[in-house]
Amino acid sequence: MGIQISPSILSADFAHLADEVARVPTADWLHVDVMDNHFVPNLTLGLPVVESLRAVAAQPLDLHLMITDPDRWAPSYAEAGGSSITFHAEAAQAPLRTARTLQAMGARAGLALNPGTSVEPYADLLGSFDMLLIMTVEPGFGGQPFLPQVLSKLARARQIAQSRGLDIWLQVDGGVSESTIAACAEAGADVFVAGSAVFGADNPDAMVSHLRQLAENASPTPIASA
Ligand code: DX5
Ligand code: ZN
Repeated sequence: MGIQISPSILSADFAHLADEVARVPTADWLHVDVMDNHFVPNLTLGLPVVESLRAVAAQPLDLHLMITDPDRWAPSYAEAGGSSITFHAEAAQAPLRTARTLQAMGARAGLALNPGTSVEPYADLLGSFDMLLIMTVEPGFGGQPFLPQVLSKLARARQIAQSRGLDIWLQVDGGVSESTIAACAEAGADVFVAGSAVFGADNPDAMVSHLRQLAENASPTPIASA
């Protein structure tokens, strides 16, 4: 897979979600942020809204679970129509079992790391996941400024994946915009979540194309052999 763009509907108009989804026809995925007001200090939506989105969206749903006890809840989100289910390492008690369960249901499994969580302790788990989400803001809210400190972790994650020959996507989420996407692509990201940059634009689908172009043009930094 090449560059993929996953607009976050967190910055869309929740009263008109079907119309909002239709404004980004060239997006590869739709990123849906599930927040439970426990793992993060914000509350968004849950299973019934995911089911409704599944019925109207042309794209597969990229679900980002910012919830406690994802081991219990993640499979229900696959059943509700998520094609990719990402849950947080900080919240999971049995990440490998949960990943396996999701994959057995036909979904992709993603592991998310907060800005303050290092990737190295999770290196041995990455082979069991389809995607690693490196948060580039503290999770909970859209429209926050990008944290450039996370770029070095992103590059290290790419290096771990490359040195182990892993077929894993690297996603970034938070503050991804025209001004930050190239740095993320250079550090090795290949799936880009953008909320306010896309749904705050006059023409959201043109912004999806623009972001894709910027990411494609950014040449990856050569990775030194270990
Ligand atoms: C934040 C969410 C993000 C959010 C990104 O916790 O995980 O997906 O929607 O929004 P922007 O792109 O505005 O930072
Ligand atoms: Zn998200």
